[in-house]
Amino acid sequence: MKIGIYGGSFDPVHNGHIAMIKSALKSGFIDCVIVIPSVRNNFKLYANKLPPPYRLYMMKETIDGLGIKNCYVSDIEYGIEGVSYTAVVLSKLTSDEYIRDFLISNDVKKKKAEEHHEFFWIMGSDTLGTFETWYKPGEILKYASLLAAMRPGDDTDVDKAAASIRKNLGGKVEVFRLDGICCSSSEITRSGDFSLVPEPACEFIKRHALYTENTRLEGISDTARKQFFDYATWMYKYLGAKRLLHTLNVGYLSAHLADVFGCDKDKALIAGALHDCAKELPVDQQLEMAKRYTGDLFTEKKIIHSSAGATFAKEELGIEDKEILDAICYHTTGRGGMSVLEKIVYLADKIEPSRNYMDLGPIRETAEHDLDEAVRMTAAAVRNKFISQGREMHPVTMAMMSELGMIN
Ligand SMILES: [Fe+2]
Ligand SMILES: [Fe+2]
Repeated sequence: MKIGIYGGSFDPVHNGHIAMIKSALKSGFIDCVIVIPSVRNNFKLYANKLPPPYRLYMMKETIDGLGIKNCYVSDIEYGIEGVSYTAVVLSKLTSDEYIRDFLISNDVKKKKAEEHHEFFWIMGSDTLGTFETWYKPGEILKYASLLAAMRPGDDTDVDKAAASIRKNLGGKVEVFRLDGICCSSSEITRSGDFSLVPEPACEFIKRHALYTENTRLEGISDTARKQFFDYATWMYKYLGAKRLLHTLNVGYLSAHLADVFGCDKDKALIAGALHDCAKELPVDQQLEMAKRYTGDLFTEKKIIHSSAGATFAKEELGIEDKEILDAICYHTTGRGGMSVLEKIVYLADKIEPSRNYMDLGPIRETAEHDLDEAVRMTAAAVRNKFISQGREMHPVTMAMMSELGMIN
């Protein structure tokens, strides 16, 4: 097969990206496109607005939602340590084993997936002129030809740029016509006008309350911001889409609540983002990790991921801050004598934007000005659920409710 590869930040994906994919598919040069949302590319290590998993899943939902055939989204950059240079990504992606397994996992027939493939790196004609300054351009051309999109009205001298690349590096360069408009992700987020963002991406952005004041992370230190991005990438291998996005949403909301209630924003962001990090580990492993943080306090299957999460964050990420670890540990149950940070993460977990298990409007509203009352309302909802399921609350939860005046 002839396979086009299209990398980018997609922060957010917009109609220009979609036009690029569709025009490349129509060009006749390729049979399918593999889209690669960046993790740590050479130009913007931490400059993206959103950490990698949001951009990956937004792209997946968009391609699915628009029903674009022969277009697959790849997470290959999650398996690459350090900066994901194009040459490095291509060497991995074009290996026989990787591409075969990837295509088969995207429902391409085995026989087709095992054929000899030819690869094309898709790019805008404007970047063709700078290609020779990229990291190891000669190596890129060993793995793939270049497929440059020519926009209507584009006055780039594509022929000259292509001739220079052929002469200096000996690669193959093809040019195709791009039918579509010119737009930029940074202009969309700067203006707040999302009219050029495809509908499925708009829904995704709305569901997770992205590109809002909370996700701008103002007042967060550079170190915490980098940790948030790195931890989001690290958790990708341990959590499915829904839970990973949930736990990151809790990070954003916790940071916001820390602002409202005068608590350390950096710690809230990190504790919130990591609170469910251990939830999809094998139960035996969770139990063993939970024991290492809280002894025999938590043994019930639904609860152990909390204290296991504290151990996981401590041992795998080197987090030693007891306030952060305790906020992770008690996010499910609460406890007596909770710190403000613990209350924030407990609350954010139950009401982050994508949660919709009940009408959360009143709690969300209260959470903007009265932390204890919002925690009380949340605990009351949890208690009702337990009663309806005939389950008993954990003694530490009873202690929290007692302190909040919910039981005598
Ligand atoms: Fe949890
Ligand atoms: Fe959670």
